[in-house]
Amino acid sequence: MRRKVIAGNWKMNMLPDATIKFIEELTPLVKDKQSEIIICVPYTDLFYALMSAQNTNIKIGAQNMHWEESGAYTGEVSGQMLKAIGVEYVIIGHSERRQYFNETDESVNKKIKAAFENKLKPILCVGESLEQREAKKQDEVVTNQIKADLDGLTSEQVSNLIIAYEPIWAIGTGKTATTEDANNMAKTIRNKISDLYGQNIADKIIIQYGGSVKSSNSKELFETSDVDGALIGGASLKVDEFDKIIESVKE
Ligand code: PGA
Repeated sequence: MRRKVIAGNWKMNMLPDATIKFIEELTPLVKDKQSEIIICVPYTDLFYALMSAQNTNIKIGAQNMHWEESGAYTGEVSGQMLKAIGVEYVIIGHSERRQYFNETDESVNKKIKAAFENKLKPILCVGESLEQREAKKQDEVVTNQIKADLDGLTSEQVSNLIIAYEPIWAIGTGKTATTEDANNMAKTIRNKISDLYGQNIADKIIIQYGGSVKSSNSKELFETSDVDGALIGGASLKVDEFDKIIESVKE
């Protein structure tokens, strides 16, 4: 059976003191949990988060990285730099990065490759816009993203990847996809992975849902056949609420 992976995406929120407090409060609440618990924090919180999460079962991730190792890329941070301070995970291709920072499937693909080269585990975000869903193009859009974003990756790399299906229209809007829609898309993604890499890899890969996940809708989501966890934005900023979501995983 696949493990559940519950990841918080703090986006551009939280200062170092709040980060330390959050992890100190969350640690005893989740210490016996079987799920993998990840918090993806802003770059400026990474060091504090890593220090606070030492000797706990909370893993720390970044929210982006550059594909080059080093060089004249003012303002960027590389995979090598993240790995050097002990980061384990990195979100790649979040829709906000695709939308506001012109990330494309091509740059996402380069970043995923660079993440693996640096032994970081990428959380790849895919998802359709409202317009695409209304035109019933969501399966086509998402499977095309998967194909382009994973181009040239080995089966071993793909089996270590986490894919987060995040319909753009559900992010931060309070609108969630129905549990059935989320599970159907997770199945569609798993089938695509099976076509590209075989059933064995498809059975192993972790597929999360993201978009307005809260403690009031997480339990049902986690009971589906193909959704293996969640990538959580707004509801990951409050310890109580994030913990309730973690608690809603059946163990
Ligand atoms: P949300 O964000 O939970 O606030 O909708 C999810 C995400 O963007 O990862």
